[in-house]
Amino acid sequence: MGRTPVQLLALSGSLRSKSSNTELLRAAAALAPDAVDVVLHDGIGKLPHFNPDLEDALPPTVVDLRARVAAASGLLISCPEYAHGVPGSFKNALDWLVGGPEFVHKPIALFNASPRASFAQESLAETIRTMSGRIISGASVVLPLLGQRLDAAGIMARPELASAIREAVSAFVEAIQAGAADTAA
Ligand SMILES: Cc1cc2nc3c(=O)[nH]c(=O)nc-3n(C[C@H](O)[C@H](O)[C@H](O)COP(=O)(O)O)c2cc1C
Repeated sequence: MGRTPVQLLALSGSLRSKSSNTELLRAAAALAPDAVDVVLHDGIGKLPHFNPDLEDALPPTVVDLRARVAAASGLLISCPEYAHGVPGSFKNALDWLVGGPEFVHKPIALFNASPRASFAQESLAETIRTMSGRIISGASVVLPLLGQRLDAAGIMARPELASAIREAVSAFVEAIQAGAADTAA
């Protein structure tokens, strides 16, 4: 009997076209094992500002985000730090997920493209824990990409970066499969 197929949804906290966090996620998608599908969601910047009044008739972009989160076996998140916090656009996306069941107990790997971004990383982790997401610490990795101007191919070409990403993705998939086995038992 084969293992459960693993689908990962990658969410970048940066809307910048040459974002190091987005490129890190692209590299993770390319380096993931064949049996693991990593899809980068590019809809974060298209979400309206969160407003609880809209929860009864959700905007289509929010319905789409929630469906993608529900369908994913786990989330790969990589987020920059703005003024010692999580960028507003990314917190906005998380706020849209608070009201639904999709995020609850979802396994999450927290990637980070900058060793300096510790305030945002801690704040993001606190928000995720509050939303009952399951951060997999062994799959969370901080990589020194700040100021390097590397795209995904450039990241993959650095053996030490590529192997750290491979190890994190493998640890994430193992944790997801172990969790799925626990649930099925
Ligand atoms: C508005 C703004 C505020 C920032 N504030 C911080 C900060 O508080 N701490 C920090 O380490 N970097 C800060 N930075 C630097 C970014 O985190 C850094 O450029 C990062 O690479 C951006 O991620 P990206 O390449 O994925 O867009 C800030 C950048 C911007 C644009």
